Amino acid sequence: MSGLPRRPLGRTGRSVSVLGLGCASYWAKPRFAEARARAVLAAALEAGVTVLDTGASYAHGHAERRLGRLLRELGADPEALLIGTKAGTVRDRHGRLVKEFRAESVIAQAEASLRALGLERLPLLQLHGPAPDDLTDDLRRALEDLRATGKVALFGINGFAPVIRQAIGMAPFDVLMPFLSVMEPRSAALVADAQAAGQGVLVAGPLARMAFAPPLARWLTRPSGLWYLARALRHGPAPLLRARALRPALTAPGWTPAQLALAWVLDHPGVASAVVGTTDPAHIAALAEAAARPLPDDVRAAVTRAHAAT
Ligand SMILES: NC(=O)c1ccc[n+]([C@@H]2O[C@H](COP(=O)([O-])OP(=O)(O)OC[C@H]3O[C@@H](n4cnc5c(N)ncnc54)[C@H](OP(=O)(O)O)[C@@H]3O)[C@@H](O)[C@H]2O)c1
Repeated sequence: MSGLPRRPLGRTGRSVSVLGLGCASYWAKPRFAEARARAVLAAALEAGVTVLDTGASYAHGHAERRLGRLLRELGADPEALLIGTKAGTVRDRHGRLVKEFRAESVIAQAEASLRALGLERLPLLQLHGPAPDDLTDDLRRALEDLRATGKVALFGINGFAPVIRQAIGMAPFDVLMPFLSVMEPRSAALVADAQAAGQGVLVAGPLARMAFAPPLARWLTRPSGLWYLARALRHGPAPLLRARALRPALTAPGWTPAQLALAWVLDHPGVASAVVGTTDPAHIAALAEAAARPLPDDVRAAVTRAHAAT
C-alpha cells in the first residue's frame, strides 16, 4: 500500500491521489517504447497514483489506445481510478488540429474515446481548451444528458484562465483543470474560487516543464530530451531565460527542484491533484515521496519574493 496522500475532489464524493500522471506528451508517442511507457504507468499505480490524464487528440489517438491497453495488461481496476480524457480537439480534413465543441460532435467524440480506451464508462470527460463562448446552454444540456446515460461520470474543463474563470460554479462541470506552477502562479486565485464553488481542481503542467532548471544533460542525450528541448524553445529562448530567476528559490537540502516545484503547487489547499508528465519511473518515485512532505516555509517565502521581483 502506498503512502501517497489523497484529497477530496471537490464535492464529487471521490478522493484522488495528490499526484496524477499525464498520459500525454512524449509518453504517448509510438516512438516512446511501449515497455518504458508501461514501466512509467506501473510505477505510478504502484506509488498509489489514481489520476490518469489523457486526451483524444494526443499523439493522433495513440495516447488513449496505449493507456487503455496498458491498464488492461497491468490488471488495473478502472473504477478505482480517475481516468480523464478530453474532447474538443479534432483533426480537420487537412489533418490540422482544430477546436470543435458542437454538442453532437462532443457526444460522438466521447463515444470514440470510450472505444479507444476500452471502457464502458468514462470516469471524467474534460472539454479541451474551449473559449468561454463555447460553453453554450446546448452543450451543457447535452453533457447532462450524456451523464444520464451512465457513459460519463464527471465533467471538467482544461484550459487557460478566461474559460476556467467562466466555468467556476457552472454546471455540469465537477472538475476544473487550470495551469498552475511556480512559473504560472496567477491561477492560484482561480483554484481557491473553484474550491469554494465545490469543484475539484486538477493541475496541468505543475512542474512548468522544468523550465526553471532545464536538465540540459538529459535533454541533449535522450530522444525524449531532444523533444522536450524543442518544446521548450518553441517560443524562443526568452521564456527559459526568464524562468532561471526562480531557480535559486527552488533549493532546499534533501529536495530536488522538481520536488519543490510540485510541493509548491500542492501547498495550495484547493488543488486536489497535480498531473505531471514523465518518461521516467524513477521520477514518479521521487515525486511521490515529495508529495507527502510539506513545502519548506523558507522556500515558500523565497518563491513569493521571486514572483514579486518579476
Ligand atoms: N502542458 C500542456 O499543454 C497540457 C495541457 C493539458 C493537460 N496537460 C496535462 O499536464 C501534464 C503535465 O504537463 P507537462 O508534461 O507539459 O509538464 P510538467 O509535468 O510540468 O513537466 C514535465 C517535465 O518534467 C520532467 N520531470 C517529471 N518529473 C521529474 C522529476 N522528478 N525530476 C526532474 N524532472 C522531472 C519531465 O521529464 P522526464 O520525462 O525526464 O521525467 C518533463 O520534461 C500532461 O502530461 C497532461 O496530462 C498539459
